[in-house]
Amino acid sequence: MELERDLEFEQQLRPASLLEFVGQAKVVEQLKLVIGAAKLQSRSADHILLAGPPGLGKTTLAMIVAHESNRALRLSSGPAIQSAGDLAAILSALEPGDVLFIDEIHRLGRAAEEMLYLAMEDFRVDVMVGKGPGATSIPLELAPFTLVGATTRSGMLPNPLRDRFGFTAFLEFYEPAELAQVIARSAKRLGVEISDDATSELAGRSRGTPRIANRLLRRVRDFGAVHGHEVLDRTTVVEAMSLFGIDTAGLDRVDRQILELLATKFSTRPVGLSTLAVAIGEEQDTIEAVIEPYLIRSGFIARTPRGREITQAGREHLAL
Ligand SMILES: Nc1ncnc2c1ncn2[C@@H]1O[C@H](COP(=O)(O)OP(=O)(O)OP(=O)(O)O)[C@@H](O)[C@H]1O
Ligand SMILES: [Mg+2]
Repeated sequence: MELERDLEFEQQLRPASLLEFVGQAKVVEQLKLVIGAAKLQSRSADHILLAGPPGLGKTTLAMIVAHESNRALRLSSGPAIQSAGDLAAILSALEPGDVLFIDEIHRLGRAAEEMLYLAMEDFRVDVMVGKGPGATSIPLELAPFTLVGATTRSGMLPNPLRDRFGFTAFLEFYEPAELAQVIARSAKRLGVEISDDATSELAGRSRGTPRIANRLLRRVRDFGAVHGHEVLDRTTVVEAMSLFGIDTAGLDRVDRQILELLATKFSTRPVGLSTLAVAIGEEQDTIEAVIEPYLIRSGFIARTPRGREITQAGREHLAL
């Protein structure tokens, strides 16, 4: 339930154009060029791959690409496209110029993935009809389209797929000042009054991630409402964050649990992902794609060829 409301909330705060999109200056410039060139030449934009940790704006950018190119957006995702037939059905329903968004594209089924290579290159697929020795393949022409793929695991994409994107955007964690902009914008949209120091306090605890900034803002808003604070100030933020167990660097219970394990049980040797996953009871995938990137980027843990280890900065943060 909570998750559902969070999703609704996210929809409501999603920037609709590149102008409203905060940060990622380089990616925004690059996208303007890709979209602008296609418009000038009256063709579909090149296929675009959006890579980066969760909540940094991949889905948002896919929607913006369609919007800025004045094209319709079709949404799908890797897990939903397992067989070649699944993909053929989606591709053959496309209208000329449509933008097809495939989220979690690293989770496409094998057969679908191979079909996608040809579709991306020649706007054509070979559909197999029948089974066994009597099966024949029938070529099917497709309408030209722009594929926008999103992945949190660009390392898991096979090279042939990666190579077929005209442009890959690597989204980076946001700077606190950028997150402050996101928070100020969201507060305004929600009709919430928040002071500047509260905004920067919250930005510093948002793990470089707009989605988290918006979620924390929502928690602080709720906290303020319950405690009768008309204006959300820095004290409201600090108290609300302490209630939800989010520390000054934005780390939550699980993050600190990882740091603590690395500082104690595994302090003498780097630890492998699978051991760490068992120790804290999380999926390896979640650690690698969701939890760990921010801890590494903050300099709290280091990933060596032999495993993960805590850094001096990580130990110091724990001691606080
Ligand atoms: N640059 C931005 N400016 C303002 N808000 C943003 C920006 N990027 C993301 N957001 C906000 O963060 C939310 C999450 O972004 P989005 O859904 O695009 O992330 P994502 O990269 O697709 O994440 P996932 O990998 O989990 O699918 C959006 O609803 C939007 O409100
Ligand atoms: Mg997304």
